[in-house]
Amino acid sequence: MIIEPMKACHVPQIAQLEKRCFTDPWSEKSIASELENPLSLWLVAVDGEKLIGYVGSQTVLGETDMMNLAVAPEARRQGTGRALVLAIVDALTEKGSHSLMLEVRVSNTPARTLYESLGFSQVGRRPKYYVNPKEDALILRKEWSV
Ligand SMILES: CC(C)(COP(=O)(O)OP(=O)(O)OC[C@H]1O[C@@H](n2cnc3c(N)ncnc32)[C@H](O)[C@@H]1OP(=O)(O)O)[C@@H](O)C(=O)NCCC(=O)NCCS
Repeated sequence: MIIEPMKACHVPQIAQLEKRCFTDPWSEKSIASELENPLSLWLVAVDGEKLIGYVGSQTVLGETDMMNLAVAPEARRQGTGRALVLAIVDALTEKGSHSLMLEVRVSNTPARTLYESLGFSQVGRRPKYYVNPKEDALILRKEWSV
């Protein structure tokens, strides 16, 4: 498995994985537009020809929002999610970012456990942030020195 920056050829597989992993998936068009956005950084995890995961972010003035993270169901629990978050922290540090913020469903134990193990802490809660099904979001943040 290798982790590399997202390229146009990855977009269709990312869109498919979005549909498999989320009830409100990003469209192929929105994902592709991230390639043109100077604030955005997306990384993909690739195993041979197959895209097995990705992470997407946007940075404004040294503060980064992680907008999505997913690993293909059949490839989970093998360290890919953790590797993607660590890789994006490294890449963002190079670009001068010093913090990463994200929202996660309260019921999403796998993701919450992963983020906690990587040193994220809860900084807030957004009531009924998610739809399909309606649920609160926890806001998690990690910061580091550059
Ligand atoms: C969250 C997600 C990205 C994790 O990806 P992954 O590749 O399976 O994660 P890793 O194998 O790197 O796991 C790292 C750690 O996270 C925790 N973790 C991962 N899956 C877990 C699970 N099902 N239950 C409990 N803890 C879990 C564990 O601490 C794990 O370490 P360990 O395997 O040594 O115990 C993946 O489950 C996913 O794509 N979920 C659906 C999409 C999603 O919810 N994205 C996050 C939105 S905020």
